[in-house]
Amino acid sequence: MPFSLRGKHLLTLKSYSPEEIEFLLQLSIKLKQDKYAGIRAKNLEGKNIALIFEKPSTRTRCAFVVACVDEGAHAEYLGIQDIQFGKKETVKDTARVLGRMFDGIQFRGFKHETVEELARYAGVPVWNGLTDKFHPTQALADLMTVIEYKGTLKGIRFAYVGDGRSNVANSLLIGASKMGLDLRIVSVESLFPEKELLRQAQEFAAESRAKIALTADIDEGVKGVDVIYTDVWASMGEESKIADRIKLLKPYQVNMKMVEKSGNPEVIFLHCLPSFHNTDTDTSRKNPDICEVTDEVFESKHSKVFDQAENRVHTIKAVMVATLCR
Ligand code: CP
Ligand code: NVA
Repeated sequence: MPFSLRGKHLLTLKSYSPEEIEFLLQLSIKLKQDKYAGIRAKNLEGKNIALIFEKPSTRTRCAFVVACVDEGAHAEYLGIQDIQFGKKETVKDTARVLGRMFDGIQFRGFKHETVEELARYAGVPVWNGLTDKFHPTQALADLMTVIEYKGTLKGIRFAYVGDGRSNVANSLLIGASKMGLDLRIVSVESLFPEKELLRQAQEFAAESRAKIALTADIDEGVKGVDVIYTDVWASMGEESKIADRIKLLKPYQVNMKMVEKSGNPEVIFLHCLPSFHNTDTDTSRKNPDICEVTDEVFESKHSKVFDQAENRVHTIKAVMVATLCR
């Protein structure tokens, strides 16, 4: 291997080359096979991992904890109510304290600048478990799931439908443009990705021969695709925008009609989760129109969302092993 990821942060996939991303994906696949075969290499024996959460989480938190236990590390959950972080103590000081005690730090929270500040001062690898801007460990699990179902990433026709400015959309834009996919962001123009990120993605795409298209036209966006992906219409912290997003994105709900428009019987449906799909949650009771996908699609044979959720463990494990050990 002509490179080492040891000591490297993961704040976004922008700072990872296609070869490094490919390495992480192949390592994830290997670690998944090992786990299924009952092989526990304990690559992280003796390591201590801090998990800072400003926002709630099911998958990311559990994936880090399970990956740590599988590999022999200790994970410490630090909820924002439990620590001084940003209130009585600066992010910079917290970074320097945790960096003296832990071997790696995961951060999930609001401002992307916070995870950058942690990385600047911790002296140990810092991994972004979601900020308002990016969700890179999610994109790795998404790409891994595409490889499992489609055998490759190059040229895969991938429609991301919905909020084109979400952290998930942003990270897919980077991942897809680095790895040579044919990505269509299908959304209203006001929710197309920010210009600067798009410019960077186009630069990556020029290297990888990825295709990046933005369209408000559903027929054009999903025609012939291998993958249809969506995320919630209002992300954590955007609760006040829900009514507006329903108005904007209602036509972009992923339903069976949209799946059929792909014209591909083998099309798969992906979603980072959590999802509103005609299920009874507090939010969906208050806003019954909030569903970004119908139950029919979510529960259909096209849906691979639980494989994708499981792959959060294998990809997060690969990130920790690669940045702490190799
Ligand atoms: N996909 C994802 O990040 O899920 P959680 O918010 O449950 O961690
Ligand atoms: N865009 C969503 C992703 C959740 C995993 C959010 O930030 O809430």
